[in-house]
Amino acid sequence: MKLLIFISLLAVFCDAALRHDRFPDDFLFGTATASYQIEGGWNADDKGENIWDRMTHTRPEVIKDRSNGDDAADTYNNYKRDVEMMRELGLDAYRFSLSWSRILPNGLANKVSEAGVAFYNNYINEMLAYNITPMVTLYHWDLPQKLQDLGGFASPYFPEWFENYAKVVFTQFGDRVKYWITFNEPREICYQGYGYVEKAPILNITDVGTYYCAKNLVLGHARAYHVYNDLFKPTQGGECGITISVNWMGPLTDSEEDLYAAEIKRQADWGIFAEPIFSEQGGFPKEFSEIVAKKSAEQGYPSSRLPAFTEEEREYVRGASDFFGVNHYTANLISANEYKGNWPVPSMYADVDVGTYVPPEWVPAASSWLKLAPNSIFNALTHLHNRYNGPVFYITENGWSQLLEEGYEDDSRIAYYRAALNSVLDCLHAGVDLRGYMAWSLMDNFEWMQGYTERFGLYEVDFTSPQKTRTPRKSAFVYKHIISTRAIDP
Ligand code: NOJ
Repeated sequence: MKLLIFISLLAVFCDAALRHDRFPDDFLFGTATASYQIEGGWNADDKGENIWDRMTHTRPEVIKDRSNGDDAADTYNNYKRDVEMMRELGLDAYRFSLSWSRILPNGLANKVSEAGVAFYNNYINEMLAYNITPMVTLYHWDLPQKLQDLGGFASPYFPEWFENYAKVVFTQFGDRVKYWITFNEPREICYQGYGYVEKAPILNITDVGTYYCAKNLVLGHARAYHVYNDLFKPTQGGECGITISVNWMGPLTDSEEDLYAAEIKRQADWGIFAEPIFSEQGGFPKEFSEIVAKKSAEQGYPSSRLPAFTEEEREYVRGASDFFGVNHYTANLISANEYKGNWPVPSMYADVDVGTYVPPEWVPAASSWLKLAPNSIFNALTHLHNRYNGPVFYITENGWSQLLEEGYEDDSRIAYYRAALNSVLDCLHAGVDLRGYMAWSLMDNFEWMQGYTERFGLYEVDFTSPQKTRTPRKSAFVYKHIISTRAIDP
């Protein structure tokens, strides 16, 4: 009897210890931002023009409130206040991006801007002075305009431009930065920028633009990774990965057709970026490649619109990442019947004929695409964990939008973060190697085509005030409490 009691007590104890009710002490809690969305100083010192400067200045009507990132939250002048906010929250880490044309005014590596490098040195040093670990994204959508004029991501020179930029960045900041992310959200860069009209340079060349971009982006990533690995990592000792947007896409029903439709949508959506890097075999996803090849032939193209990797390229790219950065916000349910969806399939998916469904009971945010979808982090991460043999993960973005009028009492954001972080604990419990979580966003910022109409910040920013005053919302205090206690309070 005594033995039985002892064994059951032991079982309860082990279960509690394994259940990760608390976040591990070395789990990195942070927030995230991006250069064009917060920095301002669009032409400060010798910064060059980028594609968002060009688009917002020449076609203001494409932005919902006709705004732009010329001043944004003016981090260029307010960086000390940003770091003060990080300290107020008790962050372990902070993810931000570098503006390529602030560092290399014309995009090419022949001229490095002293002022641009000094700005980032100051920002990084200020963080480090307070033990905040910088996690740096090299590219978060603001391509130097000159490189766009030369073809941008569709140019075969793109991988070389990116490698040269990466070398400059690793040389300048790699002594202090130990977490590198090459690209933020390839899907948005390629589908929305080259294949559609949702992001600069809004080329809307659906059938081929997306895929030329995809291949060059993946090759550019691999070149930066290898340069880091070969030349910098031995002395600097950091990690280099990529961030892909992975919203969960599950089947609407358990029918074979819906299961297959969801698989194809996942392959098209994030698989074309993740599969070449993280899968064992490398290359673009098999079924999706076959679909595009078949459609291309039917449409009279001499070869597939999705350009294949050569054998050498495939090997070069395969395994070229120290971690998988995941930006995760929501979920969609996928049905084989394209007319069954209640969410319009944007024409950017030229080769996917499926229905996308969003259950009406999922609570909506201010952004049309964003709903609180139950267990979506767990579903997405366990799927990736199984599919790609358990890589190291960081959640590099996760967050919730509101309208400005909703004010400081952002209870729906708090509910979203609590649900998300519970899902993170479930991942840890299930053995997913997830090492950090960055909330989007530290503060309100320029939300791309939606301008300043959708607010994601833990801090509200008053964009009408000269100092761009930052004020914490209720969610900031809740997040701070979670970080300091390493637990989600009720
Ligand atoms: C992901 C993007 O990386 C970020 O720039 C954007 O603001 C958020 N999603 C919210 O839409």
